Amino acid sequence: MQSLIEDGRIIQTRPGTVPQYKRYLDEMPGVPVSDDWDDIRPVNSQAHERLGYPTQKPVALLERIIETSSNPGDVVLDPFCGCGTAVHAAQKLQRKWIGVDITHLAIHVIADRLSRWMPLARFKIYGQPRDVAGAQALADLDKYQFQWWATWLAGGQPHGGGKKGADGGIDGTLEFATGRGEQNWGVVSVKGGKNVGVDMVRQLDAVIRNEGAAMGVLVTMAEPTREMERWAVTAGHVVLGNVRYRRIQIRTIEQLLAGQAIDAPHLLTTVQEAPAKSTRGAGNKVALSPADALAQRNMLLAITGGKAAGRQGALDLDEPALVSPRALDAVKLSRTRRSA
Ligand SMILES: C[S@@+](CC[C@H](N)C(=O)[O-])C[C@H]1O[C@@H](n2cnc3c(N)ncnc32)[C@H](O)[C@@H]1O
Repeated sequence: MQSLIEDGRIIQTRPGTVPQYKRYLDEMPGVPVSDDWDDIRPVNSQAHERLGYPTQKPVALLERIIETSSNPGDVVLDPFCGCGTAVHAAQKLQRKWIGVDITHLAIHVIADRLSRWMPLARFKIYGQPRDVAGAQALADLDKYQFQWWATWLAGGQPHGGGKKGADGGIDGTLEFATGRGEQNWGVVSVKGGKNVGVDMVRQLDAVIRNEGAAMGVLVTMAEPTREMERWAVTAGHVVLGNVRYRRIQIRTIEQLLAGQAIDAPHLLTTVQEAPAKSTRGAGNKVALSPADALAQRNMLLAITGGKAAGRQGALDLDEPALVSPRALDAVKLSRTRRSA
């Protein structure tokens, strides 16, 4: 005992407490990671990292996979990246990364996720329309992808779980904070056709009223007519958080691309909105069924990054809580072995 004390191997936090033997991680044989992992829990409805994407995996799982199979600076490719769990873990672990997904929905969720949780991450998105011609090409190619993209461009989120079909005049929603702990919402209606008319504004007005929304936005490919503009003006104003906003606003894709944003209170992103959604029990707005996703084999969108990875360590989620100490030890051990 005396010799262990002299070696600094015995710790006693206070006199009278039981002395403890100090062990170092690299002296323990540990347990190699097995091929059956049951210590990482799925993303549950209350999880901090939950985004509402139906197939979302826990970050801790992707971190383990990436840590045990690559080194910092390597490139991680996830060709079906969904809401970007692998991208998130790769960025956190100082890997470069490339994510590919077939739907705009996924890419926008990832962009939101990175800007919220990893604000230092630098990345590029490929395959999105950058001008009116590109937007028109997307509208001609796939009405739904166009709607999702245009909704995102307007600062909104897809409605009805990103499902295709009857939408009751709502293509997307604007979720905004109007005060401390207070939220409200607006309707987004997207028209990708070459012909637009005043009926579209009238219909939006009725939807806003019937659904109890605070405001509505009509996003059009084509220039609105004078009659449409007039109707939007006569729809009046709404006061949110002591500020007056036009109740109906019309924006063309060209205006949105040029940065003429919707005049609305502070808009919430998918990531910011996810916790609020789980507590108020509203429907899952960003979900995309695998069947729908598979049906959209027409456009691949890539997102790449990892350039600021070195400075990202401190800005992460609270993931360690999702991993048992035993699992963390196993991962550390395998890392020690790999570098040895
Ligand atoms: C199982 S999910 C990925 C989940 C992901 N690991 C996460 O944590 O979010 C599969 C993804 O593949 C995408 N997908 C389906 N077919 C595709 C294709 N042909 N090319 C690229 N992505 C595709 C879907 O849109 C979906 O987001």
